Amino acid sequence: MQLQDILYSQGFGTRRVCAGLVQQGYVEVRPDGAASFSLEKDAAALCDEEGLTLRVQGVEWPYQAKAYVVLHKPAGTECSQKPSTYPSIYTLLPAPLRQRPSKTAVVGVQAVGRLDQDTTGLLLLSDDGQFIHRMSSPKKHVPKVYEVTTKHPLDAQQIDRLLAGVVLDDDPKPVKAAECDQKGDRLLALTLTEGKYHQVKRMLAAVGNRVESLHRSRIGGLALPPDLLPGQWRWLGADELALLR
Ligand code: URA
Repeated sequence: MQLQDILYSQGFGTRRVCAGLVQQGYVEVRPDGAASFSLEKDAAALCDEEGLTLRVQGVEWPYQAKAYVVLHKPAGTECSQKPSTYPSIYTLLPAPLRQRPSKTAVVGVQAVGRLDQDTTGLLLLSDDGQFIHRMSSPKKHVPKVYEVTTKHPLDAQQIDRLLAGVVLDDDPKPVKAAECDQKGDRLLALTLTEGKYHQVKRMLAAVGNRVESLHRSRIGGLALPPDLLPGQWRWLGADELALLR
């Protein structure tokens, strides 16, 4: 692929902007297996994108045909591109991730499902539509683990009801927790395989309790990486993607 097209595919701007970045000497390349970067000033230079690492204006960027990233969502952020009150989680991502082109009208990586503004923890983002669908579709039953701190002490009856199923508002079909692991007086690890609006908060309210804080710690086989601090993101490795599949 031509270097300008590679840059374009990674979200560095229009093809014209990408060509300009190369011609102005802002782009270095390190092919797969090479020990060091070399400056490339020919925008039409052919590069093998597999295993390629770019360095654009001093920032290293591994070529990724599709983007799969994990973000530690901090409290006080909205998962919407157009937030109403709090900053958007998308402001925590670098511009190329937000600008990656796609054949559909949607541009950039998209969150796999949404967390409430006050919920923290594991959030996946990708520009792979099939992956997003597979991970968020209620039919796929991907388990998600939430660490819940409740306002009132939990009792056995509440746990039993969460496992047996509770009716939420006008939804006639009861929703139940796949697992409910009480970890303390007011601490619960709740595993859900659906993703209804405010589901954890509504389930706890339905059993007469209330959520004080909510943190998502796991999706499928992937736990929130312990070294990823609130607000930080990183690429998912092939091993981590395999855990999700
Ligand atoms: N359930 C909720 O109530 N809120 C979230 O953010 C996620 C699950």
